[in-house]
Amino acid sequence: MARNLPRMSDATQNHDIPENIVLVGFMGSGKSTVGRMLARRLGFRFLDTDKLVEERERASIPEIFESHGEAYFRERETSALDFLRGKMRHILSTGGGIVTVPGNIPLLRALGFVVLLTAHPDEIYRRVSRNSSRPLLQVEDPRRRVLDLMAVRQPLYESAAHFQVDSTRLRHEDVVAKIMDEAHRFFRWPAHGRA
Ligand code: S3P
Repeated sequence: MARNLPRMSDATQNHDIPENIVLVGFMGSGKSTVGRMLARRLGFRFLDTDKLVEERERASIPEIFESHGEAYFRERETSALDFLRGKMRHILSTGGGIVTVPGNIPLLRALGFVVLLTAHPDEIYRRVSRNSSRPLLQVEDPRRRVLDLMAVRQPLYESAAHFQVDSTRLRHEDVVAKIMDEAHRFFRWPAHGRA
């Protein structure tokens, strides 16, 4: 399912928003995979806030959480968002917790067309349990954690996003196609053919 969120800006206002697509959503929602595919299709560059933080800190996310804690990671994440200001023609994938810092939401919306990727909690759990690189899920009951975090974050994601796509039953290609269609409308790009 794809739907416009009530806060979708009027198209005439979108001229002020740089031509970037910003992907938000929970861990395992497909931001990196879909983001790379979108970048290829549009000839845009791909950047990921998690990778930026890791490069700038010269440490992996689990190491950053371990040595400095989550609050420090969140600061570095906001700083990465700030660094992205001025980028054009980029696909910007973001960490799943980026919306938990209230000041990040206007920053995200000023960076580009913000797309929320969602999936059913069972599907998210299936995807994230394949690897152990997410510090927030290293708990006794990770399934419960996923449900709790998703419930808290869903309204935050929705307040950040211009558009959302539920990827539960879609192939990555179909998610990409929906985002491409909507981005064309949002930025008023000339009509495009389906590849
Ligand atoms: C986090 C999500 C991760 C990463 C960190 C914290 C979160 O990014 O930023 O482990 O709070 O949901 P992905 O959404 O890319 O997995």
